[in-house]
Amino acid sequence: MQSGSSAGPGRAILYGMSRRPIVIAANRLPVMRTDDGSWTPSPGGLVRALYPMLRETGGTWVGWTGSVDDAPEPFTIEGVELRPIAISRQEHDDYYEGFANDSIWPLYHDAMRDPTFDAEQWAAYVTVNQRFADALLEVAPPDAVIWIHDYHLQLVPKLVRERRPEATIGFFLHVPFPPWELFARLPWRTELVEGLLGADLVGFQRSIGASNFAAIVHQLVPAADVQPSDDGFLADHSVGMGSTGTRLRTTIGTFPISIDVTEFDSLAAERSVRRAATALRASLGNPEVILLGVDRLDYTKGIGLRMRAFRSLLEDGTLDAERCVMIQVATPTREAVEHYRDERHEVERLVGEINGRYARIGHPVLHYLYRSLPIEQLVTLYLTGDAMLVTPLRDGMNLVAKEYVASRRDVNGVLVLSEFAGAADQLTDAVLVNPHDQQALRDAIVTAVEMHHPERGQRMAALRDAVARSDVRGWAERFLHELRHEPLEGDPAR
Ligand code: ADP
Ligand code: F6P
Repeated sequence: MQSGSSAGPGRAILYGMSRRPIVIAANRLPVMRTDDGSWTPSPGGLVRALYPMLRETGGTWVGWTGSVDDAPEPFTIEGVELRPIAISRQEHDDYYEGFANDSIWPLYHDAMRDPTFDAEQWAAYVTVNQRFADALLEVAPPDAVIWIHDYHLQLVPKLVRERRPEATIGFFLHVPFPPWELFARLPWRTELVEGLLGADLVGFQRSIGASNFAAIVHQLVPAADVQPSDDGFLADHSVGMGSTGTRLRTTIGTFPISIDVTEFDSLAAERSVRRAATALRASLGNPEVILLGVDRLDYTKGIGLRMRAFRSLLEDGTLDAERCVMIQVATPTREAVEHYRDERHEVERLVGEINGRYARIGHPVLHYLYRSLPIEQLVTLYLTGDAMLVTPLRDGMNLVAKEYVASRRDVNGVLVLSEFAGAADQLTDAVLVNPHDQQALRDAIVTAVEMHHPERGQRMAALRDAVARSDVRGWAERFLHELRHEPLEGDPAR
């Protein structure tokens, strides 16, 4: 990514849409500061999916640089205008690590860790959401399409709507949306729902998220008229419109996100990448089987569970440590949050324990990297992994699963995929598994390792068709057409 000079809001031609500027708001900008002050791509699936799209269309991105008290002047990278938002140290602790990642994140992921509910953290969330809304109102021209992303910014749609009733506002949630039984725990549940209802369109990864949200609107906003529609639900309401009494119709729909398929397919075709994959395999001693995991080091990803399954397969001799290795690459994430520190300790304890028992001198059986890698190295790993283990306990989508498939132009390799990842809805030819069930996880790994070549090829071919059909451009196009109530060209269903 290269930086350039600043300019006004870009006029985006969005995949067949009429010319309207697009302005995105997400907690993180697509780039973040490194320790030496330069820029590097931000972590996570949101940026990986959205940035290629915006790079092609042009537009503005409002977000945080990832460093506290760091709000440089707006600047441009690869035709995308970036508008940094300042976050203070205290706000970082309360809004980002606190309310976003220690309340909402665990709550929306099945409450698999106890969410914290703290009034000061909530106040910081409100303050930072207001700051994002102010910035959007400043940079978005009246005809802009405003597209707000993810759980950090759920109040922003309403905050923008109140000051600009005619605005076109979309919201997309990248993570799961929970059922009432969990959502109801939130002391500020009504405020969050009303915040989202400021959007014309609220999109979810899975249909269960859309129906959970529709049910919660029905429960918490009795004045809203929520009806099923062809594409999900329609909610007619006047929430938060103050004395103006403006009625708003919010569409609630399902839009499973994807990746830039061509980017991974092309990288996998590069000779240097293919050579690197062969060299990597050789450097591991040409094992018969390489198991691979690539994740942010998040407790939702099931990294410890898959390592325990690997350990148990070594223990009973189902896998032979001399012929099988596992590679786990884990991106550092949210390191100051206690649950993340605990998860890292447990993962690293398992790495030590498994290697202590099964490695030979110079031949670890479990290779573990705790760092971010450039995309070429990720694709090299994808080409090297005979079985890709994607075993989250809950995941909005999981793009790693799609990246692995898009990289396997050799139509080889087996994807083991958790039923609890959104990607399982589309990638039905993976070896699907319930990662809560240790025996099932062991069986899934064995199935992947022992799968014969014809079946591997058939499954991967079907997976590649599914991924090719779901490129991120199609996702953006569908969302933005729905937002503008435009029929999609050539879509007979509309
Ligand atoms: P999440 O958004 O929760 O992190 P996803 O699987 O949807 O999960 O997206 C993760 C993204 O981060 C993918 O695009 C993947 O390639 C990238 N990624 C994961 N691990 C690493 C790593 N160690 N280095 C670089 N990128 C990584
Ligand atoms: O949707 C997953 C997500 O929370 C994204 O919003 C974010 O890009 C990614 O994980 C990385 O997390 P963080 O921004 O906390 O480093």
